[in-house]
Amino acid sequence: MITTKKILEMKGKEPITMITAYDYPTAKIASEAGIDLLLVGDSLGNVLLGYDSTIPVTMEDMLMHIRAVRRGAPDAFIIGDMPFLSYEVSIEKAVENAGLMMKAGANAIKLEGGEEYAETIRRIISAGIPVMGHLGFTPQSVNLLGGHRVQGRTPESRAKILKDSKILEEVGCFAIVLELVVESVAKEVTENIKIPTIGIGAGRYCDGQVLVFHDVVGLTTLNLKFAKKYADTYNIMLNAVKQYKEEVKSKTFPSETHIFE
Ligand code: KIV
Repeated sequence: MITTKKILEMKGKEPITMITAYDYPTAKIASEAGIDLLLVGDSLGNVLLGYDSTIPVTMEDMLMHIRAVRRGAPDAFIIGDMPFLSYEVSIEKAVENAGLMMKAGANAIKLEGGEEYAETIRRIISAGIPVMGHLGFTPQSVNLLGGHRVQGRTPESRAKILKDSKILEEVGCFAIVLELVVESVAKEVTENIKIPTIGIGAGRYCDGQVLVFHDVVGLTTLNLKFAKKYADTYNIMLNAVKQYKEEVKSKTFPSETHIFE
């Protein structure tokens, strides 16, 4: 299994691959494909549970999915995403919830935010839990940010991302996700810190890339500028289910090859 030490060593040498995995089959496929890091992202709220944001996702949801991902990928490096309100209320609660994720099978946790969570991150790391940061567009703050907006477009926003990335490096994060960040700003951050940056909609110069599993395999109907659909499994699955329905209606399934004598 990959370690945080190895992830740090990969910076500038070998691109880091990360993908979300939410359950047994997606974890099995991602690890068999040789992906470096599996993220049990709170995006499961949108992708699996049909919420319109990640805000309703609970610790219980996350723990159940981390356990399933661990069963599907026993040797993978799994990052558990801290859901909304699992780390904001108190540092004690944050450490406790991060610990629950580790007990469920995670190797590290990820949380959204910069300077304002520096002490929280420091304490989680002191408890022996590796932390991945998350800057740029932070989906749990969608209401504050006024929608899914690319970050780093103004001098203030650029300065904040640069400052926060330095702080996350100083407190001991082993990597930082940069989400929806102007490419030139993501490049500057990547060059300015010693820990790897992993981009999603943050351009070509990050140390690694992360995408949502369902976007990669085309299981969502979204058309996102920053993502790439490598297959069209939505339509493959739709056609399979339609064919099954037709065959039951027309009495061609089950056929004699499917029966017991
Ligand atoms: O929850 C998630 O899938 C994420 C990625 C977008 C990085 O945080």
